[in-house]
Amino acid sequence: MAPRSLVIFGATGDLARRMLFPSLFFLDQEGLLPADLRIFGTGRGPMAAEEFRALVEKSVRARAEGAIFSDAAWTRFAPRLAYQSFDSAKAEDFAALAELIGREVDTTFFLSTSPSHYGAIAAGLAGAGLAHNRARIVLEKPIGRDLASSRTINDGVAAAFSEDRTFRIDHYLGKETVQNLLALRFGNALFEPLWNANSIEYVQITIAETVGLEGRASYYDEYGAIRDMVQNHLLQLLCLVAMEPPANLDPDSVRTEKVKVLRCLRPINAANVVADTVRGQYRAGMSGGQRVKAYADEAEGFPARAETYVALRAQIDNWRWAGVPFYLRTGKRMPERRTKVIIQFRRVPHSIFQQGRIAQNRLIIDIQPDEKISLVLVNSAPGLAHDGMKLRPLPLNLSLDDAFRAERPRRRIAYERLLLDALEGRSTLFVRRDEVEAAWGWIDAIAAGWEQQNVQPEGYDSGAWGPPGAYTLTGLHGHSWDDQG
Ligand code: BG6
Repeated sequence: MAPRSLVIFGATGDLARRMLFPSLFFLDQEGLLPADLRIFGTGRGPMAAEEFRALVEKSVRARAEGAIFSDAAWTRFAPRLAYQSFDSAKAEDFAALAELIGREVDTTFFLSTSPSHYGAIAAGLAGAGLAHNRARIVLEKPIGRDLASSRTINDGVAAAFSEDRTFRIDHYLGKETVQNLLALRFGNALFEPLWNANSIEYVQITIAETVGLEGRASYYDEYGAIRDMVQNHLLQLLCLVAMEPPANLDPDSVRTEKVKVLRCLRPINAANVVADTVRGQYRAGMSGGQRVKAYADEAEGFPARAETYVALRAQIDNWRWAGVPFYLRTGKRMPERRTKVIIQFRRVPHSIFQQGRIAQNRLIIDIQPDEKISLVLVNSAPGLAHDGMKLRPLPLNLSLDDAFRAERPRRRIAYERLLLDALEGRSTLFVRRDEVEAAWGWIDAIAAGWEQQNVQPEGYDSGAWGPPGAYTLTGLHGHSWDDQG
């Protein structure tokens, strides 16, 4: 049997160097890659195999930092790597690729190029006889900039690869703590009876980053945070929190439940966009202990119109979630990198205590950088007060880092899981076409609403938790963002 192949288009790009090759190396180091797997990188310019291997080694070593880098593992990994210069506009380049890898091979094509090439690459692969039924295609985000452009990309790819052989990446789904949301919800009998509007007052999901533009002005200024983060990562987290229990973990069971959530999202459009969303853009300030520039000064001559921060109040119009706001926010140049989900339970219906309002229970799921789960419970604090019991909310803490320290000496890169699943044809953690398109449909209405209402980004200082408008958004409903670490 011919060896299996992985072909990475865009192999000298940022994603490949920072994520894909280190992930592949770590998988190999743990003995998880098929022994016969060959890895082909393609890029525009010519490059000798040795030069390519040196480039990959440098990227892997840079990423390995504290993690163990074993020379023996590298010696095994390096011969898997080959390089081919490639231009997706040239039919002969596809033919040459087919000669190199063979047409009957179990092949995974990973597209890490500009999405505008996805259709052409899929068509070229089909033309060269490479889109056979043992081949899969993996697509990096962004799948389009809106619903129309995502349909164009999906149609182009679908003409060559069936949906069950198309793997759309949202790297948040590869994070172990994101998968743990499924375990927490559906592996414990405790939560499900409470997981609805009867017991939950609101849900809050934050993805905060300290980084700024990172030299991606041309992309970012056209996309902004709503398309870069909300359309995919934030909505995926929302789906995992809000979906109905799937019957099992089969790809379609899970993805069908997620898509139902997206379809129940109440539209935010010109009518309610001012009340239910906030756009922000960072000014100069301090972040990560350093003085940093304003977005407008990092935008490399692009118009600097994009938002680097979004907060919004989403509503899911179904039986389970009627009336429960889902507050979502994401921003760059925040005080710290932190992704967390907060489930705020309702207040007790009647207080037997003299103390005024009793704190509400909260389930806090820290996804990164800390990986922990806390359940905030009300307790009686010690003391001999004359005026009755003193109540104090205290967290019941579960540190996943501590619990798994021995089994997991380092944090995995999300792409390790995703690459392994793609190579083995498991698609539960990949995004189905109808999901991507439902998400774009919802985002398009927000973007159009902003335009119609001329909603401009509000400034916030780098190192702050976003613009003041975000606090009004929650405050008007008697709720508040949790900015505690
Ligand atoms: C990417 C976005 O999808 O996710 C980036 O394009 C963002 O703008 C990144 O920085 C965040 O990912 P992570 O895994 O660092 O939270």
